[in-house]
Amino acid sequence: MKITFRFLLSFPLLLSGTGLWAANELPVYQDESRPMDERVEDALSRMTTQEKINMIHAQGKFSSPGVPRLGIPDLWMSDGPHGVRAEINWNDWGYSNRTNDSITAFPALTALAATWNPTLSHDYGNALGEEALYREKDVMLGPGVNIYRTPLNGRNFEYMGEDPYLASVLVVPYIKGMQQNGVAASVKHFALNNQELWRGHINVELSDRALHEIYLPAFKSAVVDGDSWTIMGSYNQVRGQHACHNDLLLNKILKGDWGYKGVVVTDWGGAHDTREAALNGLDLEMGSYTNGLTSESAFTTDDYYMAKPYLAMLEKGEVPMSTLDDKARRMLRLNFLTAMKRNKPLGSVATPEHYAVAEAIGNEAVVLLKNDPVSKKSPKLLPLSPDVKSILVVGDNATRDLMKGGGSSELKVKDNYTPLQGLKAIYGDRVKYAQGYRAGRPMYAHVEDVPQAIQDSLREEAVAMARDADVVVFIGGLNKNHLQDCEAGDRVDYGLPFGQPELIEAIKEVNPNIVVVLLSGNAVEMPWAKDVPAIVQGWYLGSMAGKSLANVLSGKANPSGKLPFSFPAKLEDNGAHHFGTISYPGDSIKQEYLEDVLVGYRWHDTKKIPARYPFGHGLSYTTFKYGKPTASAKTIADGESLTITIPVTNSGSVEGKEVVQLYIGDEAASVVRPLKELKGFEKIDLAPGEEKTVCFTVKPDDLKFYDDTTGSWKAEPGKFKAYIGSSSTDIRATVPFELK
Ligand code: BGC
Repeated sequence: MKITFRFLLSFPLLLSGTGLWAANELPVYQDESRPMDERVEDALSRMTTQEKINMIHAQGKFSSPGVPRLGIPDLWMSDGPHGVRAEINWNDWGYSNRTNDSITAFPALTALAATWNPTLSHDYGNALGEEALYREKDVMLGPGVNIYRTPLNGRNFEYMGEDPYLASVLVVPYIKGMQQNGVAASVKHFALNNQELWRGHINVELSDRALHEIYLPAFKSAVVDGDSWTIMGSYNQVRGQHACHNDLLLNKILKGDWGYKGVVVTDWGGAHDTREAALNGLDLEMGSYTNGLTSESAFTTDDYYMAKPYLAMLEKGEVPMSTLDDKARRMLRLNFLTAMKRNKPLGSVATPEHYAVAEAIGNEAVVLLKNDPVSKKSPKLLPLSPDVKSILVVGDNATRDLMKGGGSSELKVKDNYTPLQGLKAIYGDRVKYAQGYRAGRPMYAHVEDVPQAIQDSLREEAVAMARDADVVVFIGGLNKNHLQDCEAGDRVDYGLPFGQPELIEAIKEVNPNIVVVLLSGNAVEMPWAKDVPAIVQGWYLGSMAGKSLANVLSGKANPSGKLPFSFPAKLEDNGAHHFGTISYPGDSIKQEYLEDVLVGYRWHDTKKIPARYPFGHGLSYTTFKYGKPTASAKTIADGESLTITIPVTNSGSVEGKEVVQLYIGDEAASVVRPLKELKGFEKIDLAPGEEKTVCFTVKPDDLKFYDDTTGSWKAEPGKFKAYIGSSSTDIRATVPFELK
């Protein structure tokens, strides 16, 4: 007889039926060989109402209770989304000051998005999941997929850019990679938290089309395809109701249309009303009354909306008990998948493997925006020649710890490999450094005043040193200070801060061989761009930032990053800003998304307002030739797919990766549609002279828009065009076709 493992597991149960082995019998809810639903129902049937209530709200800053009587463990959470945050005190925002909570910082999510590489996204999620396991976390608060609507949003760096398709394709493998470790992802912030200013109350009004076509798809992919076990509601209101207990978003769309089985967790302090929380799909309340200062002693977690007040409403019959059971069921399932899961790996932190993942993502994230020769006869500045005699590195960001600050995504890193260290490792003492400008200490919620005299002397020093250098590498951009790339506030200025534009111009006057590297999670105004031969977008690349940047600048890695959002020349060129303050930032009570579906490149393209650097743009040290496309048909019937293939050749002299992008445009429609929209991409690796054929399938859904008169997706017959290119504006081939 073949004795299976499953049979052996059930042995105690068989014996227990005889009364022989009752002591070892596992209760159904603890038996991992049983179906999940059975286990959940069993646990639920053993719980008191008070135990269910306990489970659905916080007990400390980052923990919610299990059921001690039943051996169901507490849940532990942590930010998210770029690494595991340092330990925070049980009941206030202070650090626990532990010495074993330093970790790997992975590149920020905008950087991940710039790789256009789903495999790297899976590696990211997995490595972060391993770090979370080591730190004994059950839920990681990320990834974020709010759409990049305006370059002023202080939190864009935590998100995946302006395009719903790109964000959808990249968010799914991150979640799967993480959750395969038994650590839940918490995709956030659902939904429409697209600015930080007034985030706690601003009421977002928008059309159904914009909601479904632009702002929801990445969340839908995260829960439907990625099976994210939790989702975090956002602080703002949507159509007059807070997003954390919003009937439309949570009941109708998330749990209704998308069939979501997971847990809806509030953003910290995002709950505002017990009845709505009970009825409108919220499952776990965190962070209410947590200013840690005044109200903490008066309000405890028992006073949370989903604690005593909810119990009182249940007892009075004002809300049905089924609402609580539904929440408790979801919490139990989450617990069984994470905290209570047996045989989980132990995880690991700051390993060479995790550093290699961070470095690989960094290598593919860096975007070469511009690389022109300084004069007609001179070679391009990048990659920096191995024989360069002297490099002057200028800029605060060359040495700064850019993991500090920024709000909840701040990280305490084990190692911080800075850009200056990266360049020194390759070019040795040919590298000199001048700070050039001072940005002040990382500060959350206020800005440090930096005296003008310091700035003048730093600038003079940098300019003097620049005169004698072969090449100047300026490493500036934004940082994680308040009013920069930082939570709880938006940028107030689209330009570079701390006098950087003037500094760049002054250096350029004495030395035209200048490479500008911008570290930021946002687009910035670049009036100086025409005067500078080489510009690199270097994001926030985490612990291994200096390695990846030096790899790209030296040519060890050939840049292959592509912009996940447009860089408008002027702020007014961005769709959200075109309509004045009611569109952004609103009147403090409400705002209207008047650009509608024309977000990012959809606006630039359709309105013929070119961006300075368009969505999908990114140069390489090699060149790629696109051949003639072929299509499987000229006309397709409703419901049919179309196949388009195109050969791409590396026509330069070094190996390189190209992101081949497919956009689809509806030539004539009964509604305003973007000129074209991203519907496919593939990143290919080509040796010099090598050719590969990329094959795209245009599916029926790729032709549809959301018809808000019927509340369904619709494709209208007529002419369409497929655009294939190296960016949203560098289109190398088009394929017209017709839908019958
Ligand atoms: C942020 C969330 C974060 C939470 C916990 C909130 O302020 O908006 O993204 O996960 O705090 O730190």
